[in-house]
Amino acid sequence: MSEDWVDVGPADALRDGAVHAITVGGRPLTLTWRDGAFGVIDGVCNHAGGPLCEGSLDGDYVVCPWHYYKFHRITGEGEPGFEADRVPRHEVREVGGRVEVKADAATRRHKLRHEPHPLTRPLAREPGPTRVVGISATAMDTAHPRYSTSEALLDVALQEAGALGCQTKLLRLAELRFRACEGFYSKSAHACTWPCSITQMDPADQMEQVYEAASCSPSSASSASTSPSSPSSPTRAAGRPRTWSATSST
Ligand code: FES
Repeated sequence: MSEDWVDVGPADALRDGAVHAITVGGRPLTLTWRDGAFGVIDGVCNHAGGPLCEGSLDGDYVVCPWHYYKFHRITGEGEPGFEADRVPRHEVREVGGRVEVKADAATRRHKLRHEPHPLTRPLAREPGPTRVVGISATAMDTAHPRYSTSEALLDVALQEAGALGCQTKLLRLAELRFRACEGFYSKSAHACTWPCSITQMDPADQMEQVYEAASCSPSSASSASTSPSSPSSPTRAAGRPRTWSATSST
């Protein structure tokens, strides 16, 4: 074995079709085997630094377990359309029944700049009445609605706010079409991103209405029921003007 090559284990054991997290020169790498060829790419995802080496295989692509970005298991390139968004690849070879990996990467990391999501825009509070949004989290079969005490109370609160001259808005989560979080945050604090990666990747994700309603954005304030706007991240929530309030029912 030359100085640059690092023995990472017996070839037979690594030919099991799984995604293997290996460490070479202190660096986490992703080793895979498919169609008779080993592949080794970096173990850290381009998106938010997720553990690509703990991902799964989708054809020739390693899928990051955090938000499902994909990188070619041999070239490190992103999936079709995002080839320039690539992680480093390493040379790999089989010698005497052992797998060896070059410690130095053969290619460099390149992050493709993604267009910022509209929700990332700076917040601005325009003059106007106090705005109050009520968010109902009541579990409801919208095809067969039932009376909900908590939602009725929320309604009363909004009516009171309206009588005081506030602009009001009621959002029912049961009426929105969005995909539930897969528990990214429970894997790591860094796994929860703003804007939410689900919202970013799904143009039909109606959670935007909630983010907009809970923000102080002028566009959302004047027509919170229809227009998207901004976030509920801790940072932004902390900066929310006092004239905005949110209440919820469950
Ligand atoms: S997809 Fe890998 S960190 Fe988001």
